[in-house]
Amino acid sequence: MLKRITNIESFIRSNVPFVPEIGIILGTGLGGFADIIENKTEIDYSDIPDFPVSTVEGHAGKLIFGTISGKKVIAMKGRFHYYEGYSTQEVTIPVRVMSRLGVKYLFVSNAAGGVNPGFNVGDLMVITDHINLIPNPLIGKNLDEFGVRFPSMNEAYDKELVLKADNISEGFGLKLRYGCYVGTTGPSLETPKEYRYFNAIGADAVGMSTTPEVIVAVHCGMKVFGTSVITNSGLSDQPSTHEEIQGEGAKAQKKMIKLFSEILQRI
Ligand code: HPA
Repeated sequence: MLKRITNIESFIRSNVPFVPEIGIILGTGLGGFADIIENKTEIDYSDIPDFPVSTVEGHAGKLIFGTISGKKVIAMKGRFHYYEGYSTQEVTIPVRVMSRLGVKYLFVSNAAGGVNPGFNVGDLMVITDHINLIPNPLIGKNLDEFGVRFPSMNEAYDKELVLKADNISEGFGLKLRYGCYVGTTGPSLETPKEYRYFNAIGADAVGMSTTPEVIVAVHCGMKVFGTSVITNSGLSDQPSTHEEIQGEGAKAQKKMIKLFSEILQRI
């Protein structure tokens, strides 16, 4: 694992003319965010030695380096999922590479099913906590150079960044929801009872990503900000479909773009 991380880091250092400060992971249907990155250098995942390769529809598979609001960023257009057959250690390789490159903030986004009865499709939820039901990526020998054996997850999502989001939402009349994201393995969507169960245990939205990356980012000492686009309702009578999830993600991404770029300006 360390060897792969080192190889990827060296490849990036020799192909990208600057060192990023902020990492961004773009989820299903949210890749349009890449359009606001300026002075871009793009690298296909398939051109990076030892990088995992994404297979799922709707994930282009590129690292994009550039600037947003004057900040140097590295964005992943397309992420890796446990359900694709990768271990969570592999899923989180890019986060560790970002850490090696000096990234101190990680912005994550995902598409999620709403399980809070007050949420609507198209809402943007700021993640304030999570419940991880995907194998923990820190299982195995601790990589001491990144962080400690038992990292606290008490404030996995940085409170100051949530506060910034709150201020921005007031200033721009951008309606935000706040809540807990539960990360599940997928790839099957939930049964009606499973959606209700997730709400009963304290979740507001459910998805198949994010928690492994956030755990590793926190282990590395990064400050994390995350949002979920509510693409479907787990509580509706209609079954959720993958097509619906992708379409709604694309529609709500405008809000997410505004929020991320405004927060980046304030870091
Ligand atoms: N369940 C799990 N993952 C998801 C969903 C869902 O309803 N919507 C988007 N990602």
